[in-house]
Amino acid sequence: MSLLEKIRVTQAFLESKGIEKPEFGLILGSGLGELAEEIEDAVVIDYADIPNWGQSTVVGHAGKLVYGKLSGRIVLALQGRFHFYEGNPLEVVTFPIRVMKALGCEGLIVTNAAGGISFGPGTLMLINDHINLTGQNPLIGENLDEFGARFPDMSHAYTPIYRETAHAVAQKLDVKLDEGVYIGVTGPSYETPAEIRAFKTLGADAVGMSTVPEVIVAAHSGLKVLGISAITNHAAGFQSELKHEEVVEVTNQIKENFKELVKAVLAKL
Ligand code: HPA
Repeated sequence: MSLLEKIRVTQAFLESKGIEKPEFGLILGSGLGELAEEIEDAVVIDYADIPNWGQSTVVGHAGKLVYGKLSGRIVLALQGRFHFYEGNPLEVVTFPIRVMKALGCEGLIVTNAAGGISFGPGTLMLINDHINLTGQNPLIGENLDEFGARFPDMSHAYTPIYRETAHAVAQKLDVKLDEGVYIGVTGPSYETPAEIRAFKTLGADAVGMSTVPEVIVAAHSGLKVLGISAITNHAAGFQSELKHEEVVEVTNQIKENFKELVKAVLAKL
């Protein structure tokens, strides 16, 4: 089956479950999936039941698709995403974005846990641009002309008007929201201190193992994007050792602010 055929099959399956015309897609990163529990009139579908869908293997990723109303908007939320480091082809990693677009989404809110280069643990960082250091691109292969151009523009991948809205909402809520560049790597090993020094020189403010492939596919499809990184740890070299448990612990501390911010922004997009 071609990628386009797979998208259509999955779209038809989800529509048959009552998932119709979502306005916004939501990708909830490590430990941030709780927000989906606040979705009203929810239709919840296990990833395992969705044709052509990947499977979530990371702790803290529930592996459920949740559709319904949040802040008065119709959303389709992914509780858990697919990472390249799990062994998923990028077609699988970015497949949900294709399906969101096919179902009619106009915008995507993409979130992640990231290591801080310019910012410390506990920071919420609005992503204003990214550096793709994965050595991969999800658009390699035949172009899906129905979705977008062969050589899509990435100048405004993180939609300026969404960023302005997010800052205005954060200010109103009195939630501190920093802004910076996300550098995407494959993982799963964390970076070396020398890599982090290099990334700083390149202009990166935070580092993580997701988001970049999804945003490339979103930009290709003409989806507007809001990206938020929850900075869970100092990147390598700022401290003696990096532990996944610490990432989970800090995420737990910032998730309340994160949830309030995303809900309030959603109402205003
Ligand atoms: N590096 C890469 N990915 C991450 C990090 C990090 O320090 N923290 C959370 N995700």
